[in-house]
Amino acid sequence: MSRELMIANINKAQKEIEQKKETVKMGKMRQHYHFMPQTGWLNDPNGLIYFKGKYHYFYQYNPYYGYWDYMHWGHAVSVDLLHWEYLPLALAPSETYDDYIRGGCFSGSAIEHDGKLFLIYTGSSNQGNGVEQTQCIAYSEDGIHFEKYKGNPVLIAPKGISADQFRDPKVWKHEDKYYMVCGANCNNMAQALLYCSEDLFHWNFVNVLAESRGEWGYMWECPDFYRLGDKYVLTFSPMGAGEHTAVYFVGDFDYVTGKFFHQIWGEIDWGLDYYAPQSFLTPDGRRIVVSWANEWDWMPFWKDWGPTYKENWCGFFNIPREVRIMPDNTLQFVPIKELEALRKDKYKVDCFTVHEAAMQLTAGDGISFEMKMKIDLEKTNAEKLELDLRCGNSKKVICMFDFINGQMYVERSNSDGWSQGTSRSTLFLKGRKELDIHIFSDQSSIEIFANQYQINHANNIFADNTQNQIEIHAHGGKTVIKEYESYGIQECFL
Ligand code: FRU
Repeated sequence: MSRELMIANINKAQKEIEQKKETVKMGKMRQHYHFMPQTGWLNDPNGLIYFKGKYHYFYQYNPYYGYWDYMHWGHAVSVDLLHWEYLPLALAPSETYDDYIRGGCFSGSAIEHDGKLFLIYTGSSNQGNGVEQTQCIAYSEDGIHFEKYKGNPVLIAPKGISADQFRDPKVWKHEDKYYMVCGANCNNMAQALLYCSEDLFHWNFVNVLAESRGEWGYMWECPDFYRLGDKYVLTFSPMGAGEHTAVYFVGDFDYVTGKFFHQIWGEIDWGLDYYAPQSFLTPDGRRIVVSWANEWDWMPFWKDWGPTYKENWCGFFNIPREVRIMPDNTLQFVPIKELEALRKDKYKVDCFTVHEAAMQLTAGDGISFEMKMKIDLEKTNAEKLELDLRCGNSKKVICMFDFINGQMYVERSNSDGWSQGTSRSTLFLKGRKELDIHIFSDQSSIEIFANQYQINHANNIFADNTQNQIEIHAHGGKTVIKEYESYGIQECFL
């Protein structure tokens, strides 16, 4: 019976999508090259995997309207990580353990096992005793149609862990065993719990991989754990850790004891719109992370999820980034090389000097573009460099690079009549000869990468097309720019 219920719920959702998708497509705030849903609400990336020749994106999805509710898993495939084909939804709520209007099929991951595609997700339900979160399995032969495992749930919250804060399993294989990291709350402190299984169905607790002592909040959403070079990386989105939205720890890990010794921490992105990153491996061995370009209402700078709900959709992913490790074991997050295939209208200048008077810059149509530059710090004596994006109608997004205080900020409070907030971070300038900046702008977002892709800011803005000018000027001196290049970006969602 329950299998039929899931199919019926998927069909109902598909009908809704079919009815609305052409109108939603016409929306003025739709992105040109960032992955987004056909209709309705999207949040976390789930189940990212390369399976049988294609990349699969699954995603937290409410197909009915542009707000979070009643979570399904959306599904799309791609051969190049740029152009996506939407497939029927993979999961819909249908069982006592996942059928709840303020719950559903929550975040999780995918893995190949016995030639089948397995999804491991959190069922979030409420049967009258409060919210209960358990780990569940669904599988598919063709990678399109999924069936929930009859023995679900396969894992329930252990003693001492809050039943309503136990979610987002990320599964991987090491030698002949499966491992899972899961976010949890124990006595009001966040933990990442490590489990092990021989067959994906029976799980044994191994260890607390890492935990907060208060400084990293009371719950870690969407933890991920992977090897990078000789080190291991844990990432998570902490609840109750101030402005932090996506944190990484780097350290050493021992499979025998399940102990993780981490010495380094960093922020994947300092912007206001970067949450719940999940990683996967490409066939050529690159570790890629994809995340939800937004944040939750309990975050300090949250205003709302943006005005796109008026167009019957909400949510997109940040551009995929390749994770690389530096000699000091800190991480870089580099836009994937596949994006270069979308470049058009190249514009290049070898060197120019920016003074206090504003200059115009050229990059694509000023809306959907890529821009790269290097600042020659040895020849620069300005205190700050101000780069204004999406200017027009007395509005703009201000990107400020402060050379004296070693800071960067992106101010969007006067950017579109809607968005608010300033994202802030340090910049490492001491002893450096140059500062590199790389920007990806799309219809409704700006992602800025600086300092060798270690200091990144992703912010959404919903400016209209009259805001298409780019201006630059220095404060308190001159700034010398070398190797400026820019491109327009080809449309991916025709
Ligand atoms: C993170 C999150 C997850 C949860 C999902 C629900 O953004 O809150 O912890 O599984 O979203 O949609």
